[in-house]
Amino acid sequence: MSKLDKVLERIDQNLDQSLDRLFELLRIKSISTDPEYKGDCRQAAEWMARELTAIGIPSEVRDTTGHPMVVGHRVADGKPGPHVLFYGHYDVQPVDPIELWNADPFDPQIVTREDGSKMIVARGANDDKGQLMTFVEAVRAWIEEAGDVPINISVLLEGEEESGSPSLQPFLDANKEELSKDLALVCDTSMWDKDTPAISVMLRGLVGEEITLKGPSKDLHSGMYGGAARNPLHVLSDMIAGLRDEDGRITLPGFYDGVLELPEDVKEMWQNLGFSTEEFLGGIGLKDLGGEKDRSGLEQLWARPTCEVNGMWGGYTGAGFKTVIPAEAHAKVSFRLVGDQDPEKIREAFHAYLKSKTPADFELELHPHGGDRALRMDFDAPALAKGRAALSAEWDKPAALVGCGGSIPIVGSFKRTLNMDSLLIGFGLDEDQIHSPNEKYELKSFHKGIRSWARVLEELAK
Ligand code: BES
Ligand code: ZN
Repeated sequence: MSKLDKVLERIDQNLDQSLDRLFELLRIKSISTDPEYKGDCRQAAEWMARELTAIGIPSEVRDTTGHPMVVGHRVADGKPGPHVLFYGHYDVQPVDPIELWNADPFDPQIVTREDGSKMIVARGANDDKGQLMTFVEAVRAWIEEAGDVPINISVLLEGEEESGSPSLQPFLDANKEELSKDLALVCDTSMWDKDTPAISVMLRGLVGEEITLKGPSKDLHSGMYGGAARNPLHVLSDMIAGLRDEDGRITLPGFYDGVLELPEDVKEMWQNLGFSTEEFLGGIGLKDLGGEKDRSGLEQLWARPTCEVNGMWGGYTGAGFKTVIPAEAHAKVSFRLVGDQDPEKIREAFHAYLKSKTPADFELELHPHGGDRALRMDFDAPALAKGRAALSAEWDKPAALVGCGGSIPIVGSFKRTLNMDSLLIGFGLDEDQIHSPNEKYELKSFHKGIRSWARVLEELAK
């Protein structure tokens, strides 16, 4: 039996203990965007540092102006292959609307379906606690079974990914030398489908902005003032409606600068994936594509930019009815970017647009929420081929090279600040409801995810 086979066997035998450890982490309410959970975020960081140290990657919690980072290294002279930096995030998204959860989001459950397949249900079960623990458990199995990992490993875990990673750039700047390794391994993306592993080779970028529009000096009776007093919610609705034209294109001047058409070979590769728009939309109770006309579903998801309203509120939203003109209106808007679109130019164009639509007697307040460029990996990188080989061996199916509609801000910073490429391998499924109620992770994803990383670690040493 080869070393790798023994490691894989140990992973199978220890799956229950691996799950127990994941459940401990899932019970910590590390919601990074809500100040109420600051202590929980630190607790998650401390749990991670303890766990990593215990398996043989000496690690510490490092303070930032926001939530702490966890950094660890396991390095020995003379090891083959690249020195990798594994990245994951221990923070999670808020749980609302809480009433739609079938169980407490921080009391993880294994749910068994009729066909016997099992899933782990909890906030963070996939994003990113379940995913990051696949790597940690793979390292544990290597060290326990073979005495060591095949390559040199460093780990960087952050606690602010879900809120735009504000402390990350300063942290990378301040610790450049310590964190610049040969390759970053990131476990925060999806498989192509439940049987087909994938490496993400394109990531969309992001521009986030919060808008507050202030009109009348106080909430007004809409009968006494309606008509004469301009309503902030109307003005805000007009602003937002004007961002998209009938064809689903974004109207901001210069918005499409740097948006590239897909190279023919990538187009062909994606066509061969056999994406079904009907199935994809059917799974979320929809029928018709909502993006730019004349663009395929996959293109809309992976290769075209968007503008989304993530939240909009103001006035009376409680039970019953109240005839009111609110003093304020609010919205959170985000743009997903592709190709060479420039986040700062887009933010400027957005600000200019909003200002031009703000009535003279109104006040506009803007609060930026992170911004990052889109990314495209080098298709010929040796690490990509090795990752593919390892995944294909575990899943008995060639790994697909896919795009990712989401954003992982750090990957851009790794490239720009540390000149480090990333290999994005993850085991989530589109149906996992990340950021939504009843988030889940397939037990199969967790189990075979651990096995996959065990193989990747060996493959990279070759
Ligand atoms: N894990 C996701 C990224 C992702 C999304 C991968 C969908 C695969 C499919 C990540 O944690 C995430 O949600 N990122 C945020 C970043 C934002 C808050 C800056 C995102 O994409 O919205
Ligand atoms: Zn994530």
